[in-house]
Amino acid sequence: MTDLPRALELKSEHFDDVYFSVHDGLAESRYVFLQGNNLPERLQDFKTEEFVIAETGFGTGLNFLVFLQSWQGFKNKNKPKRFKYISFEKFPLTKDYIRENLSYWKEELGDVLDDYLSIYPDIINQEKYVLPIGDDGELILIFGDVNEEMPKLQDKVDCWFLDGFKPSCNPDMWSKTVFQNMARLSNPNATFATFTAAGFVRRGLQDAGFDVQKVKGYGRKREMCVGTYQGNKS
Ligand SMILES: C[S@@+](CC[C@H](N)C(=O)[O-])C[C@H]1O[C@@H](n2cnc3c(N)ncnc32)[C@H](O)[C@@H]1O
Repeated sequence: MTDLPRALELKSEHFDDVYFSVHDGLAESRYVFLQGNNLPERLQDFKTEEFVIAETGFGTGLNFLVFLQSWQGFKNKNKPKRFKYISFEKFPLTKDYIRENLSYWKEELGDVLDDYLSIYPDIINQEKYVLPIGDDGELILIFGDVNEEMPKLQDKVDCWFLDGFKPSCNPDMWSKTVFQNMARLSNPNATFATFTAAGFVRRGLQDAGFDVQKVKGYGRKREMCVGTYQGNKS
């Protein structure tokens, strides 16, 4: 058997789980998080100036890059003027580690990967980084436990990427605190997408005010979940 390329084996030291699909993380990210949140189609008719995404579990930043590439390729003149991408991460990866592993998708990610690596901190010694992206975006990295950091957030969110490790390996990431703060921060009709369809995650999101639908998962995965915040419709 031949060795798998390094990026395909990216596994956490803290949790017994992988950062992304061992088959095709890039395609999985596009399917679960972009398509799951109906992006970029949803941006065609988005009435506010700014579109805000929040992610639980920044990891390598692959989901961010997938979003950025889609944002930059989407030329509709009615799209929001700016985006903000806020992401929480308790165990930040070093820039060298990220470069080494994401370079597997160098061709497909192209400029967005180089631009991202040029701004990702060389040494992580702050809890929060606000990194300008071109002239129409911001990447906000919050390094700490999502359960402690999300309650401090005040930004209203339009779209959630829920990407902790599997709930069975990483239950803290899928807590009542997270779900209730998602509800507190969600704009009307905010959407979420996640690769998991675990029962306690579905119930937690429903109890917090989200409608939750099970849909086909990526590749061989049977199910994942998507949904919309119902709680503060005007
Ligand atoms: C599946 S990985 C995320 C993959 C990532 N979105 C990417 O594009 O590479 C889950 C991430 O959640 C982080 N994490 C786990 N528990 C956390 C917690 N309590 N608070 C914040 N981040 C946490 C892990 O360190 C890991 O980076």
